[in-house]
Amino acid sequence: AVEETPTVATQLLAYILIAIVGYLLTTLMVPSIQVYTLRKGICGKDLGKRGTLQGEQPLPEALGIVPGAVFLVCLLFCLVGFAATYPSRMLDVNAALLSICFMLFLGFTDDVLDWPWRYKLVLPSVASLPLLCSYKGSTSVVVPLQLRSLLWKDGHMTAFGDFLGSFVIVDAQATGALINLGYFYLLYMGLLAVFCTNAINIFAGINGLEAGQSYVIACAVLLHNLMEIQRDGPADNHLFSVMLMLCFIGVTLGLLRHNWYPATVFVGDTFCYFAGMTFAVVGILGHFSKTLLLLFIPQVINFLWSTPQLFKLVPCPRHRLPRYDPTKQLMYPSTFPCESHQYTWLKALQGIPSNAQELPNMTVINLCLQVCGPLSEVQLCRLLLLLQCLCCGFGFLCRYCLAKYIFDE
Ligand code: UD1
Ligand code: MG
Repeated sequence: AVEETPTVATQLLAYILIAIVGYLLTTLMVPSIQVYTLRKGICGKDLGKRGTLQGEQPLPEALGIVPGAVFLVCLLFCLVGFAATYPSRMLDVNAALLSICFMLFLGFTDDVLDWPWRYKLVLPSVASLPLLCSYKGSTSVVVPLQLRSLLWKDGHMTAFGDFLGSFVIVDAQATGALINLGYFYLLYMGLLAVFCTNAINIFAGINGLEAGQSYVIACAVLLHNLMEIQRDGPADNHLFSVMLMLCFIGVTLGLLRHNWYPATVFVGDTFCYFAGMTFAVVGILGHFSKTLLLLFIPQVINFLWSTPQLFKLVPCPRHRLPRYDPTKQLMYPSTFPCESHQYTWLKALQGIPSNAQELPNMTVINLCLQVCGPLSEVQLCRLLLLLQCLCCGFGFLCRYCLAKYIFDE
């Protein structure tokens, strides 16, 4: 007998139902699991409420383990339908699952053991190994229109094209406008995983922000996949991404209910790494890593603005989240101390007098406070999530309107 394969509509419906179950399971399980993490001392003080009674109580940390585990279970059920339709993609898909699972585990060790910074960079590259080792997809990239004349002229390769050809495979006929990056592509994918995970982790520190930004990005990725499916018909890579994103949105919303201001739990590095790895995996297997980066604009800006502190050009305190003033009940940019005529270039950049004895920590969160004035924690979170939505909208604009001038799609 011929086995019937489910249609796209039935598959989508099944994924949505599973995602709803994921949401309910996560919401119900977080309150019971938080008792156990608290008992083992996996907890932290809410630094955004310092000086109040609330700020004295330890809050359970690392609750990202719940949505992570529920996500994996949901996905296993989704895969039953996916495997029936696309049996040839199962190797990739299982490698992807293993990478996410590995990252979840390493993220949890970070919450328990508090790895130093240099280790945090290594963890995601280790976790992305299952995906990179089994990756059989294309390793080619399209050269932007404006750069093609550098590589090819009148149907021949230029000297620069020849030079590049000694590292990567450059299409000699100039027909495809592709270059095959080979192992460099794998390196790029590994770096993408490192970036996505850490970028979410350092754009954090106020209630609801980690889970909130992940939710917005996931919705944007989902929208992108649905539009692609609408335009070109169901493709395995986009359907795979839809499946992951629906489950991810379900469990993230479940967690966000408990992490939204005033938070009763912290999501921990477990969640940040898990979310980042999920995005990296769909970007890699879905072949839309450039679009993915367009949805990460606030995180990219936050990373770039943070580099002086991350690379220790200026001091970087353990926590850079905003300072809370309990009397005014508002948040102000947090600062680090410096000498009166130290880092004058940085002070000039920010319009701060060169004899100032402290400088604001360089994060987008503090930058928002510097520009918009003191805000309450929940206002600040809403503002940052609005910024995330606007940036995703801008990302879409670039992807769908400007891309044709660069890649002639
Ligand atoms: C990253 C940031 C750090 C920021 C921290 C907050 C860098 C280089 N590191 O460090 O600046 O302070 O995340 O997540 O940018 N917390 C709150 N309210 C929240 C969330 C977290 O007070 O809404 C505090 C709690 O004390 C919690 C702790 O942050 O225990 C978690 O910090 P952790 O995730 O371990 O910090 P990092 O990821 O290392
Ligand atoms: Mg963290």
